[in-house]
Amino acid sequence: APIFILNGPNLNLLGLREPEIYGADTLGDVEKRCAARAAELGLAIDFRQSNHEGELVTWLQEARDAASGVILNAAGYTHTSVAIRDAVLACEKPVIEVHLSNPFAREDFRHHSFISDVARGVICGLGAKGYDLALDALAEICSSPRS
Ligand code: DQA
Repeated sequence: APIFILNGPNLNLLGLREPEIYGADTLGDVEKRCAARAAELGLAIDFRQSNHEGELVTWLQEARDAASGVILNAAGYTHTSVAIRDAVLACEKPVIEVHLSNPFAREDFRHHSFISDVARGVICGLGAKGYDLALDALAEICSSPRS
C-alpha cells in the first residue's frame, strides 16, 4: 500500500506564502521531490493537500485500509485539532508529523502540537528535506514485521 502524504491548510500557497519562513519551493516542487525519493526507496506515494479539517480526518480514516504509513503536515490544524489527533490514533498506522519550519522557534501558540505525542516521530525545521527523511524512516518502519 502507498504512503499517504497529507498536507493541511494554506500549504497550497507554498512558494508564495511567507517565503522567508517556508522557502521558495511550491507544493508541486515538494511533491516532485517526494516522488523522486519514494522511487529510490521503492515506495508508492499518494500526495494530497486540503484546506478542510474534515477532509484530512477522512483521509486519515482512509489510511486505515489503504496506506502503509502516513506523513502528515497538518499545518495550522496541528495546533488546534483534537479531531485530527483522534484520526491519527484511529488510523492505526505509523504517522510521521512533518513541518517545514521549526514551530519551536516561532510564536508560543505553535509550541503545542495535538499530533506529536501520538505520532511515531516528528521532523521539523528542515524544509522539504523533512519529507525525504520521513520517507526514509517509513521505508524502514513499514518493512519491519511489526510496524
Ligand atoms: C507548518 C507550521 C505551522 O505552525 C503552520 O501553521 C503551517 C505550516 C510548517 O510546515 O512549518 O501552516 O506546519
